[in-house]
Amino acid sequence: MKISRQKGTKDIVFEDALIWEYLEKKIRKIAYSYNVNEIRTPVFEATELYARSVGDETDIVNKEMYTFKDKGDRSITLRPELTAGVVRAYIENGFESLPSPLKFWYVGNMYRYEKMQKGRYREFAQFGVEIFGSSSYHADVETICLSHSLFKEIGLWDKLQLNINSIGCKECRAKYIEKLKEYVKPNLENMCQTCNVRYEKNPLRMLDCKEERCKEILQNAPMITDNLCDECKKDFENLKKALDDFGIDYVVDKKIVRGLDYYNKTVYEYTSKDLGLAVGGGGRYDGLVEMLGGKSTPAVGFGIGMDRLVLLLKEYNLVEDIINKNYVDVYFLILDENGYSYASDVITKIRELGYKVELDIQDKSFKSKLRYADKIKSKYVCIIGENEIKCGKCTLKNMNEGTQEDINFSIDEILKRME
Ligand code: HAM
Repeated sequence: MKISRQKGTKDIVFEDALIWEYLEKKIRKIAYSYNVNEIRTPVFEATELYARSVGDETDIVNKEMYTFKDKGDRSITLRPELTAGVVRAYIENGFESLPSPLKFWYVGNMYRYEKMQKGRYREFAQFGVEIFGSSSYHADVETICLSHSLFKEIGLWDKLQLNINSIGCKECRAKYIEKLKEYVKPNLENMCQTCNVRYEKNPLRMLDCKEERCKEILQNAPMITDNLCDECKKDFENLKKALDDFGIDYVVDKKIVRGLDYYNKTVYEYTSKDLGLAVGGGGRYDGLVEMLGGKSTPAVGFGIGMDRLVLLLKEYNLVEDIINKNYVDVYFLILDENGYSYASDVITKIRELGYKVELDIQDKSFKSKLRYADKIKSKYVCIIGENEIKCGKCTLKNMNEGTQEDINFSIDEILKRME
């Protein structure tokens, strides 16, 4: 019986694998240029970590987690996001005592049991950055600049829109929530079941409801952005000015509250202008380290959907160069069994020099071997038969020009032609 891939997962191979490799290289380069440390945390964590950080009234925790009991009867969850895991690692490894700010980046798979849509998978990856120990808006700006640098580097910046908002600190948000509840109360019975639950448990999330009747009721609701305390207001103004200074375009979207509970003050999202797809999101989460048992530590970060970056790169035909670079430098086509020992040293050395070398390992006709060399886009084919071995030579075929010559079989002679 055939066993199929699980819904919402994919096999990344060939051209797609090249695009992923390209993205990962760019990410590494940008993270290096911002002096950010790589962090790799486990794919599974204690379920409680997510319930306490992402929030048990969020869709992620309520509906989307892959949770199971392990053989030791512990409740385990495949990570639905990575911020919580990085915070856990920060506390557990005593990173609090290291010089701050401390900056981390990651690329990793995560798991959400979601309804499938374009760009929405059950296993997906994010590139993320988390900065610990700075309460300055400059840290928020730094995360936006870093993500902006990546989008610019891969040619996607002008296809995206950056939406920013501030959801205030604990104090001004508490006051605002009272105002929001007061506004909603007379209409609560006309709102959906989820909004009714959120009204009690997490009122801000009502603003994220997709139900038409709720959207209508909330249309004229007071907005947190207009109800910030002086400090939050000043921070948000400073943030906008700094983005202007860096020449980063943004739109203030008062409706952004984000789907995870740990945020405060700055929140932001990148969406694709044409496809309306959320490409990334982030913000400040000053209370999370303390909430998970660490010292009070301000923090800010973002996560960008890798799968969605790949989708956009393909959508906008930005992948041709990446794929075209996928050629083989030289294919060693062996027509006589003794050719293998004859060529072994040269092949090893060329590989050690960093060239991409394919060795003929299949018993086929000369013609089909040549056809194969063409298919794998080999620039040169080095043909070794009985005659060549006798004379200490090889036939080097230039596949682009369709020419060939007999040369002495040495690494220098081959490289002289290939360079
Ligand atoms: P998030 O908004 O849940 O934030 O996810 C960030 C990005 O991950 C989304 O904008 C989207 O591109 C991608 N993503 C989410 N779900 C899926 C899916 N099912 N399939 C494909 N891509 C998806 C977070 O996860 C926060 N931890 C970000 C963060 C880091 N905030 C502060 N630090």
